[in-house]
Amino acid sequence: MSRVALVTGGTRGIGAAISMALKEAGYTVVANYAGNDEAAREFTHVTGIKTVKWSVADYTGCEDGIRQIEDEVGPIDVLVNNAGITRDAPFHKMSREQWDQVIGTNLNGLFNMTHPLWNGMRERKFGRIINISSINGQKGQFGQVNYSAAKAGDIGFTKALAQEGARSGITVNAICPGYIATEMVMAVPEKVRESIIATIPVGRLGEPDEIARTVVFLASDQAGFITGATFTVNGGQYLT
Ligand code: CAA
Repeated sequence: MSRVALVTGGTRGIGAAISMALKEAGYTVVANYAGNDEAAREFTHVTGIKTVKWSVADYTGCEDGIRQIEDEVGPIDVLVNNAGITRDAPFHKMSREQWDQVIGTNLNGLFNMTHPLWNGMRERKFGRIINISSINGQKGQFGQVNYSAAKAGDIGFTKALAQEGARSGITVNAICPGYIATEMVMAVPEKVRESIIATIPVGRLGEPDEIARTVVFLASDQAGFITGATFTVNGGQYLT
């Protein structure tokens, strides 16, 4: 029987590429999404991948959603915490709401999604948790105090949880994408975006599939000795 993978924010952008790459690699994939029903319907229509709706910012929603998937599809072997939002503003203009929304989804979302399925992975002695952090959690970004704080938190979460999962066959790793050609990056004002691309040595934005291939590798049995690691996939824009 194929392994089951759950991808949050898995119907659009980097998440959609991850869902499709895992399906192609032989996983039974379920893609979670929070808001865009039309995109989810279209995604299922095109890919045949099951989609399920809840917000990763809502702990009870995560518990219920995960229980439902485990009943209908089977125990979750691979969790990709990909769901993320931006609410960019310089700090002097940033509202408490913008802070809370980004921390709620991009940081609390990792707790909310991982906690309900952690004990199952421990009992089954196998699991793969792959957290999609960001270059901006590594280097910080003007206009993203909220996002950079959350994404840096994702790296700390990864390093600590990796130590707890190691003896149970569970690996926990983070990927830090640089600027990838998705709606999120296209929403950055064009002049700002152009100035960012000028700082990428490879000379272009990344492609969602370049992140997806890293996820497929980390999910595989061959990656069992890699845990607590942070993978930088950014075209050389920031070297850690
Ligand atoms: N460093 C220094 N100064 C900067 C700056 C930077 N990187 N970026 C902007 N500024 C300055 C501008 O020059 C301007 O200065 P002046 O007023 O002196 O001309 C000032 O900041 C702009 O201030 P405003 O009050 O006008 O700012 P704003 O309300 O228009 O907001 C912003 C600006 C929202 C921060 C906008 O610059 C922006 O969107 N920046 C991009 C942020 C970014 O990179 N987001 C990443 C999104 S993609 C993503 O998050 C995916 C991922 O993981 C990589």
